[in-house]
Amino acid sequence: MTSALSAESPGSPALELAAGRLPAFVYDLSELDAHLRSVRAALGDVELYYAVKANPDPELLRILARHVDGFEVASGGELAHVRGLHPEKPIALGGPGKTDEELVSEVTRLHVESSGELRRLVASGHAADVLLRVNLDIPVDGASLSMGGGATPFGMDPAAIAECVELLSAQDTVRLRGIHAHLASGLDAPRMLELAAAVLEYARGLGLTEINLGGGMAVSYADPGRRFDWETYGRGLAGLRRPGEVLRIEPGRSLTVYCGRYVTRVIDVKRVHGELFAVVAGGTHHIRTPATKGHSQPMAGGEPGEPVTIVGQLCTPKDVLARRVPVSLKRGDVVEFTMAGAYAWNISHHDFLMHPKPGFHYVGG
Ligand SMILES: Cc1ncc(COP(=O)(O)O)c(C=O)c1O
Repeated sequence: MTSALSAESPGSPALELAAGRLPAFVYDLSELDAHLRSVRAALGDVELYYAVKANPDPELLRILARHVDGFEVASGGELAHVRGLHPEKPIALGGPGKTDEELVSEVTRLHVESSGELRRLVASGHAADVLLRVNLDIPVDGASLSMGGGATPFGMDPAAIAECVELLSAQDTVRLRGIHAHLASGLDAPRMLELAAAVLEYARGLGLTEINLGGGMAVSYADPGRRFDWETYGRGLAGLRRPGEVLRIEPGRSLTVYCGRYVTRVIDVKRVHGELFAVVAGGTHHIRTPATKGHSQPMAGGEPGEPVTIVGQLCTPKDVLARRVPVSLKRGDVVEFTMAGAYAWNISHHDFLMHPKPGFHYVGG
């Protein structure tokens, strides 16, 4: 990490280094392309949408568009962004709290989050193809985030779904196409398949054949080499799917996280009450991921050394990028954080303290 980056290393942000313009995000588009190719191959007939909220960077979307069947967006803003870049691609619009304007968007699928939302849609007279988002009361143990499996603001319980089905049967402007479920994030392939089986059984009980199983495929920041088993998942879904059923998934993090790095430089090294800290340029206002997930952001390279806590430039104790990492760091060293391609720059509070924005670099593709 400290000197792992050089002008010679493949994909290094050599120009930025030369210009002294760190921090920067560096995206490896060839890595993304290869990863998507293998995910796509493992999925067979299962439709693949990308959850744009994970990272809406236009260069990443350009590569994604080669491989995905469509994009899942969660706001009018994301919809306008994707429509502008890829007008030909199918789009599913989801997310809680849709405004009246968002509800009447022209999209391929609208994911309905509540019976109130559906009543507003029907009252508008707007023709739409909808999936009803169900929140099934099934255990989602082991998940890093739970959007289902109990009382959450996401989706509807089966009683509210029944209300929606009745409302829809009394009219024909809004067409009921199927069920949407995104119950949890951070589950491995066998657990995801268990959830899929439960969602499919539920949809079949309603006589519905189009099922979006959501995203949430596990990513391990503690062990970057441990990746979601797409082969097992694809085989499992093929085994679960019945003839005539359309299965769709909409992952975000597991598709783009690996292609991004956040590269910065040590400004200061200090010892406070015995503990060693390295203060780097930038911080969690650029890459909020370690603060939101409570992890140490994984790093590449580096010589072994005394454990050091790597913090950013913000005036808050929450601005920690990695805790007690056993590497040697001194002022001026370059630090390279990996797994920075999802829920990183786009979820961060950029303007807090008004430090400069990072650079953005793309290699390969
Ligand atoms: C409805 C929905 N679909 C897909 C995703 C993508 O999840 P992930 O990035 O964990 O794959 C999310 C994330 O919150 C979501 O809320």
